[in-house]
Amino acid sequence: MKGPVTFYPGESARGPGASFFKSRASRRAFIKGVIASGAVVGSSTFLFGSLGGCSSDRPAVGSIERLISLNVNGQVRRVDVLPNETLAMTLRYKLGLTGTKLGCDRGECGACTVIIDGVSTYSCSTLTHMVGDRQVRTIEGLERPNGELHPVQQAMIDELGPQCGFCTPGQIMAAVALLEVNANPTRDEVRHALSGNLCRCGAYDHYLNSVMRAAQGA
Ligand code: FES
Ligand code: FES
Repeated sequence: MKGPVTFYPGESARGPGASFFKSRASRRAFIKGVIASGAVVGSSTFLFGSLGGCSSDRPAVGSIERLISLNVNGQVRRVDVLPNETLAMTLRYKLGLTGTKLGCDRGECGACTVIIDGVSTYSCSTLTHMVGDRQVRTIEGLERPNGELHPVQQAMIDELGPQCGFCTPGQIMAAVALLEVNANPTRDEVRHALSGNLCRCGAYDHYLNSVMRAAQGA
């Protein structure tokens, strides 16, 4: 369920965050934190009143939650979900998986990309109740139990791929979904697979380099 967005402008541009990094070493540490769990970067401010996290104790009309089971990162998670709740909301605010980012919350930017049954999917545009027993994977599920990063994550570090890092979890999930069906993509195929993931910092070329590096090392 990728949006129709195709956006790959001046690919060598670096974003405004570059000046924050005084050395490659500190920048690499920052990137490692971002790509492992997305935990370094906060999401954009988001109104959360309709999901039970609001200040009122009284549920709004039509906001009756139902307990469901979700298969996330190989674990069955029991969670109360509203009828109109999106998967992005459930992951971030009910299950604490904040590596999945919310940017536009309307299927345009790709920050919320997760993998559902092998397909990269905008979780902001997916109702949690519609997921059923399908397998959801988020950025938190890529790291192996022994702490080894997924090859795409490692390549992002090696290539110093991200700038601010906000879009990075979505970019990684889209890339992982691609490499699982096409382990040896061309650069254009990677570009196409990531075309639904916008990067405000303009780090597109670095993301392409990272994914190509991961593919070549696989
Ligand atoms: S937050 Fe889902 S596409 Fe932007
Ligand atoms: S690295 Fe900043 S939005 Fe992509």
